[in-house]
Amino acid sequence: MTKMKLPARPDLSVNIAGIKLKNPVLTASGTFGYGEEFAEFLDLNKLGGVIVKGISLKPIKGNPPPRIWETPSGMLNAIGLENPGVDVFLGEKLPFLRKFDTAVIVNIFGFSLEEYVCVAERLDGVQGIAGIEVNISCPNVKAGGMAFGTDLRATYGLLSAVRKKTRLPLIAKLSPNVTDVTEFASAARDAGCDGLSLINTLLGMAIDVRCRRPRLANCTGGLSGPAIRPVAVRMVWQVAKKVPLPIIGMGGIVTGEDALEFILAGASAVAVGTANFMNPRATLEVLSGIENVMAEQGVGNIKDLIGRVSAV
Ligand SMILES: Cc1cc2nc3c(=O)[nH]c(=O)nc-3n(C[C@H](O)[C@H](O)[C@H](O)COP(=O)(O)O)c2cc1C
Repeated sequence: MTKMKLPARPDLSVNIAGIKLKNPVLTASGTFGYGEEFAEFLDLNKLGGVIVKGISLKPIKGNPPPRIWETPSGMLNAIGLENPGVDVFLGEKLPFLRKFDTAVIVNIFGFSLEEYVCVAERLDGVQGIAGIEVNISCPNVKAGGMAFGTDLRATYGLLSAVRKKTRLPLIAKLSPNVTDVTEFASAARDAGCDGLSLINTLLGMAIDVRCRRPRLANCTGGLSGPAIRPVAVRMVWQVAKKVPLPIIGMGGIVTGEDALEFILAGASAVAVGTANFMNPRATLEVLSGIENVMAEQGVGNIKDLIGRVSAV
């Protein structure tokens, strides 16, 4: 009897900012907790990596409720970066994640340059951390966050200061709430970053017309989900053409095809965010969706798709 030759498994491995990933599917910060919250729904070993909820120097309670509002094909959130602080993260959250064969990328933020630098310093050299993603783009806090990410000099100054204090791969998470995102990508590169994440949420607002009040206690919030995907794909494409740094693309990814839009636009990896709230196994479905399209198209290596969108 002749043996049927099975097609070789596709090579899904990618390298982002010096971090080796077994596949390009990551979790977007703030939508997957610290991994433990989702571990009963899926095998974390199957993920390319976990980008954890943003960590600050001290614990933060976040904004008062309501903090979330569903919108057409998306959601508004104004969580206000609630987190237990870097000490609790290192003592209680990281030990759980270390048990898995997946890259752990720690998202950090601060209310001042000094706070960002302190958090980065604390993470440097810690076993089990593959890299740092610096959130300079949160729209839901009054100081810090987006204040850095929408000013070119502040972006450069902050990222250069963080760069000096860590040897870990450094990924800047850029804000879409700017006129030309490529300028901010270039500033991040000049500051010594190894990679870029884009996009964070778009600043939005919803109003209850009967009460005549904003839907969120914070008034404004960050818009995420499929509604923002075309904006995110466009920004990844613009940045990839101009700045030679690896990109983690995100914004409204629900399926493998959504993820491949980002990869063809120039992202080396993708992060799944809001979709995790609709379906806790969304990341794995995105992964198998990518594999299906690759098989259908006879593509053996995901790297052959990065940036391969052609002009019409
Ligand atoms: C509830 C919620 C919390 C978030 N928290 C963070 C965060 O702590 N740090 C960060 O950099 N981005 C945060 N984000 C932004 C996401 O990581 C992602 O960039 C954005 O939501 C776009 O992807 P998506 O449309 O797939 O959700 C958060 C998003 C949501 C919806």
